[in-house]
Amino acid sequence: MIYKNISLKPYNTFGLDYKAEVLAVVKSENELKSLISEKELFDKPFFILGGGSNLLLTQDFQGGFIHPKFEGINVEEINNEYVVVSSGSGVIWDDLVEWCVKKEFAGLENLSLIPGLVGASPVQNIGAYGVEAKDTIEKVQAINLLDGSVVEFSNNDCRFAYRYSIFKDVLKGKYIVSRVYFKLSVSPVLNTEYGALNEEAQRLGGLTLKNIRQAVVNIRQSKLPDPAILGNAGSFFKNPIVDSSIAEEIKSKYSKVPLYPDPSGKIKLAAGWLIEQSGWKGKRIGQTGVHEKQALVIVNYGGATGPEIFELSEKVKHSVFEIFGILLEREVEVL
Ligand code: EPU
Repeated sequence: MIYKNISLKPYNTFGLDYKAEVLAVVKSENELKSLISEKELFDKPFFILGGGSNLLLTQDFQGGFIHPKFEGINVEEINNEYVVVSSGSGVIWDDLVEWCVKKEFAGLENLSLIPGLVGASPVQNIGAYGVEAKDTIEKVQAINLLDGSVVEFSNNDCRFAYRYSIFKDVLKGKYIVSRVYFKLSVSPVLNTEYGALNEEAQRLGGLTLKNIRQAVVNIRQSKLPDPAILGNAGSFFKNPIVDSSIAEEIKSKYSKVPLYPDPSGKIKLAAGWLIEQSGWKGKRIGQTGVHEKQALVIVNYGGATGPEIFELSEKVKHSVFEIFGILLEREVEVL
């Protein structure tokens, strides 16, 4: 289905009302293939739009958006140890998590309630509460936008790292993810290394898949604003990964700084903490502001413009740089 000159308000979780010249919603490989054969769509810039939960629009877009709506969740393989579940990239991420938890398939429960669609999970390597999508993704099926061919990428091919994959880098705009295959456990190995998660699950009655999911939901709802009520795109910045000498220097001045060892040998800092220490938590400028319960989140109180939100994020970056010498990188994509 092709829409012309359409408002993108329902397609971005900041709720920003900018227009796209063309929005193509594709439901099947064949639909995408016939779209690819209409070469004129690709004469102008185009952008792949998933759930719009990691996107900051700043103006009307003189080009096209492709919105993949590949549906369907299937069990591809099951034995005594594991199950391979595949999901269309247009499935709502949390619907997939809920489906897996109901079936007692373990591995995605810590990623409950993350906004967006399944297709973003390998692109962004989404993560929360000690788990990342890369821990369970077995392979990714994607469609080459030049010729419509279907290609499979193994977990290794995706070059996953913190909030990173090859699809955000050299393959950006070249492929559309159509299906994602997850290898899940049928005898749950629960990950409760995130302390508050363990406590909350125990409070709910013990460490079961269902309770972990509910604990994640409760923790997220207590800290993170619901985009359906207050426009936002989750973490606006990434947590910076720095050399241990830099982390030590900050620790010598701020003994309580949260530090997390990164698999690279470097140290991950909490951007939310840096922003809070810089005095921005809960601050509001016009219709935009830094969330009062989680400083990593920038919110639209209603009626903010994309450039206003961007401007606020620049001010936050500037303060953190002035105080800590750390340059925050946006997690949100600015368009
Ligand atoms: N912190 C503060 N002030 C704040 C926010 C956080 O001091 O305003 C401190 C906390 O006290 C804690 C540390 O920073 O010591 C880390 O905070 P938290 O556990 O809330 O997680 P985060 O690092 O701020 C990351 C992800 C979230 C994910 C949570 C939970 C990134 C950019 N964000 O946030 O992901 O839900 O961990 O695992 O990695 C998202 O990507 O959109 C997202 C919400």
